[in-house]
Amino acid sequence: MREFETRDYPVFEMFNHQWGLVTAGDAGRWNTCTIAWGSMGSIWGPPNGGRSVITVYVNPDRYTWDVLTESDTFTVQFFPPEYRKALGYLGSHSGRDEDKVSAAGLTPKELAGGITFEEAELTFVCRKLYQGQFQREGLADEIRHGIYENWDPHWMFVGEILEVEDKR
Ligand SMILES: Cc1cc2nc3c(=O)[nH]c(=O)nc-3n(C[C@H](O)[C@H](O)[C@H](O)COP(=O)(O)O)c2cc1C
Repeated sequence: MREFETRDYPVFEMFNHQWGLVTAGDAGRWNTCTIAWGSMGSIWGPPNGGRSVITVYVNPDRYTWDVLTESDTFTVQFFPPEYRKALGYLGSHSGRDEDKVSAAGLTPKELAGGITFEEAELTFVCRKLYQGQFQREGLADEIRHGIYENWDPHWMFVGEILEVEDKR
């Protein structure tokens, strides 16, 4: 096991309540947005040898989606509680329209070829293994009609965790 695989990640708390960011691209062109939907686990390897992955779910109407679909890697960040307002801002403004990261008061930095933020307490650097859109016909009626009746379904992005910066 790698060192990061021995650590605890309270995933339901992290995604659903604490929220995170998914950040796509590199120093040349990148963007980030707030996410509350996400998963962690293992896949595509033998028992005891699965790849450790994070999956994020991003709607195609986000500018982050444009950059994610073109990138081979992405990063996922989590922050201490005092950055909640910043996360709220990054989840309600688009990088298409403004430099929202400066407006939110975060400091971007490079990490392993991707982008993260000085203020993040936990960053996962991921290599994209899969991207694809949820197909309406496969969705439970409740989701298909309750969430996607008038909305293009989200895409899933499965990323193999390559590196973790954990300041917790
Ligand atoms: C708390 C919170 C959670 C969010 N979770 C997601 C998510 O999991 N997936 C997604 O596609 N959008 C999510 N959003 C919406 C995007 O963050 C939002 O549309 C953002 O402005 C997109 O920015 P962009 O256009 O710069 O990519 C969330 C927003 C908030 C405030």
